[in-house]
Amino acid sequence: MEDIITQANTRRTFAIISHPDAGKTTLTEKLLLYGGAIHLAGSVKARKTTKHATSDWMEIEKQRGISVTSSVLQFDYQGFRVNILDTPGHQDFSEDTYRTLMAADSAVMLIDVAKGVEEQTKKLFRVCKERGIPIFTFVNKLDRFGKNPFDLMEELEKVLGIRAYPMNWPIGVDGNYTGVYNRQKAQVELFDKDGTHGQKALASTVGSVNDPAFQQLLGEAAYQTLTDDIALLDMAGDQFDYDKVARGELTPMFFGSAMTNFGVQPFLEEFLRLAPAPTPRQTSEGTVGLDSDFFSAFVFKIQANMNPAHRDRIAFIRICSGKFERGMNVLHIQSGKQLKLSQPQQFLAQDRTIVEDAYPGDIIGLFDPGVFGIGDTLCQLGHQFRFKDFPVFPPEQFARVQAKDTMKRKQFIKGMTQLTQEGAVQVFRQPDVIESFVIGVVGSLQFEVLEYRLKQEYGVDILMHQLSYGVARWVTGENLNPKALKSMDNCMLLEDTNGRPLILIATEWQLNWVRERNPGVEFLATPPGMTPE
Ligand code: G4P
Repeated sequence: MEDIITQANTRRTFAIISHPDAGKTTLTEKLLLYGGAIHLAGSVKARKTTKHATSDWMEIEKQRGISVTSSVLQFDYQGFRVNILDTPGHQDFSEDTYRTLMAADSAVMLIDVAKGVEEQTKKLFRVCKERGIPIFTFVNKLDRFGKNPFDLMEELEKVLGIRAYPMNWPIGVDGNYTGVYNRQKAQVELFDKDGTHGQKALASTVGSVNDPAFQQLLGEAAYQTLTDDIALLDMAGDQFDYDKVARGELTPMFFGSAMTNFGVQPFLEEFLRLAPAPTPRQTSEGTVGLDSDFFSAFVFKIQANMNPAHRDRIAFIRICSGKFERGMNVLHIQSGKQLKLSQPQQFLAQDRTIVEDAYPGDIIGLFDPGVFGIGDTLCQLGHQFRFKDFPVFPPEQFARVQAKDTMKRKQFIKGMTQLTQEGAVQVFRQPDVIESFVIGVVGSLQFEVLEYRLKQEYGVDILMHQLSYGVARWVTGENLNPKALKSMDNCMLLEDTNGRPLILIATEWQLNWVRERNPGVEFLATPPGMTPE
């Protein structure tokens, strides 16, 4: 038992959230570089650009040169075991991206210093905020011209509603970035330029800001700006309050440049020190946490055809309590089946290794015999509970689909059912319409994925017609009158797979209009009775 707690306390399991192009791939790679998992930066990026040649993942991924699905990266650093949940960085992100956040204990929000808070960051931030997990901010691309750090702090508060506590402060902005000031240690760290374009870890010089020799090294102007900025921060800024960080109300903020490696190591070390170890999770039988001596885990992602040669389906599970041992028998709660977990895998980019044991916070991939669904619980034999329901994220784009060939209806239904189980799309039915479904997705790439997979895996060509609705709301309440709602302009009334009614509406603005005309009806972004963890 002690072994489990000791091991679990070294785990730091987090996701990086950002808008495309903020530098997530670059930062991830630099974290791997400092963590010793790679020895020369450039390899992950190279993979990104040569994906056409190397990827054996989905064909669509090759065609588009993007990552459709997220992977998990693991490395050890100074006694910590770091698990990075890599979320898809493309504009067309999906529910998968959101769900990955359910497996994280904290998040790193990456912001481009010139662009500030962007659209996708906002969406991902909201999910983290709802979960109440700590959010750390890394402001990237400090080597370039960008917004003033004080203005960025204000932007975080205005746009996201979170206050920021700068853990360090940049020295030299707008193309003159040379180092960071560590506020807690009152130390300055100046980075050496090494001419390798960030391929290797950087050397740096560290000294006290009170040391006159160091002040000289900084130069008078930079020293003056720094002391003025710090005085202002100390006077007008927030106090560091760990409880507020833990509740996701205050974000520790860092400044750096992933490309040049400036500020990456100080960030990594402070982040690992402050980020939480695996936190307790809610179940039907109360809380399960590090002091629970039995194994438990939940499925947060299912990925089919990672290797078309094997036609396999991998379920990614996040361990919440106990020790996982290769070959152990567990109970899959949702099916009631006992399963032997004989081939658990871990992933570094696309390289797989077999796992012998794993602890809370760790992510492993299991071959899915076709029984797993998103959010399912696995327990050590002798235990029986479920993790709290996974939140359903409201889809934002919709299409009507049907099989091109009506003779293929059976395969079509089978494919749709399995892909829904995987959580690739949400499927709805229009009452009285039997030949077609309406599907809802978070990012439009999922439409293509669905079409492609139905053809490749089930041999079904589909007809797809995109609908011009942007908002879905489950409707409930004592005054609910489906007929009245159905007759409203520009709305579509549907049922989800559990028979719960929902309505599609063009815009948020129109939703307000409909809401005003239907007092006593509740319009819910998630199905009734389901709230985020
Ligand atoms: P993403 O995964 O978030 O989409 O971003 P990615 O790391 O691919 O980075 C997007 C672009 O931003 C890349 O440029 C990358 O080199 C650049 N970048 C990342 N970090 C920094 C930084 O700290 N400073 C500066 N100046 N640029 C940074 P690219 O031109 O699209 O690709 P490449 O030709 O550099 O590979």
